[in-house]
Amino acid sequence: MKIFKSIKSFSAWRNKQQNKVIGFVPTMGALHQGHLSLVQKSVQICDITIVTLFVNQLQFAPDEDFKNYPRNIKQDIKNLQLQHVDVILIPSNNQMYNQKFSYCVSEYNLSKNLEGKSRPRFFNGVTTVLCKLFNLVLPQYVYFGCKDIQQLYIIKKMVLDLNYSIKIIGCPTIRESNGLAMSSRNQYLSDQEKNKAALIYRVLRLAKKSIQEKQKKISEIKNEMSLKLLNNNFKIEYVSIADVATFKEINQYKKSHTIISLAVFYKNVRLIDNILI
Ligand code: PAJ
Repeated sequence: MKIFKSIKSFSAWRNKQQNKVIGFVPTMGALHQGHLSLVQKSVQICDITIVTLFVNQLQFAPDEDFKNYPRNIKQDIKNLQLQHVDVILIPSNNQMYNQKFSYCVSEYNLSKNLEGKSRPRFFNGVTTVLCKLFNLVLPQYVYFGCKDIQQLYIIKKMVLDLNYSIKIIGCPTIRESNGLAMSSRNQYLSDQEKNKAALIYRVLRLAKKSIQEKQKKISEIKNEMSLKLLNNNFKIEYVSIADVATFKEINQYKKSHTIISLAVFYKNVRLIDNILI
């Protein structure tokens, strides 16, 4: 396994890999089974699997947890080695964004709702860093988790709109046995708190059942979701039942493509999850 900390030497190596199928898994590190499930898919299918570990400051607002975001590079490297990853790129902030950096890649439709509304800088940061990383890594396949479903759809659209010859593969959300979606931010919670936070998935599943039964108004289902969360000390950023093609709220039942999603704070930790119907 090769580890590059310099973009220049990474690019020199990449230029020599002709006629190879390259799979790419971009991450911010602090890897868990969710990340590793994406890596496994790439290793199974591609000749070469490349993983980046880069906590992208551009996608954090000044009051968010960039400084405290969990970092565990040594353990990440060990985990990636066990998965038979070929290359890890760990670029520094300065290499990715030098002092004269003055560009931004911006999506202006899908990114305006839900996560984009709650975190106005977030998607600009994500699309900008991924644009740079796609140009550096030049992959044929890139793997993303459905845990961040809006990010997945925005990147699928970026590849289409900006003419990248890349196939974006969406992979299922990996969960703890209690149903809590795995997340690097779960490290901020104790085991007991993680068990309490598993309520999120139960709330999503109940909403899915209600939607399939079609007995209640959609607004009523959202109110029930909010009430359960509020009664259990969750602070709500949004509870949403939307069309996954637009991420706009719906008020009529649809046959498919309905996304139930939410963002909450539990013990000051921001957690997101979703279920696609
Ligand atoms: P990060 O949060 O590290 O996630 C990297 C990838 O792992 C994303 O595609 C995410 O959806 C996926 N992932 C996270 N938790 C998962 C889970 N429980 N099950 C399955 N997949 C999961 O998302 C980012 O980093 C950044 O925004 C990034 C794309 C790297 C750009 O900076």
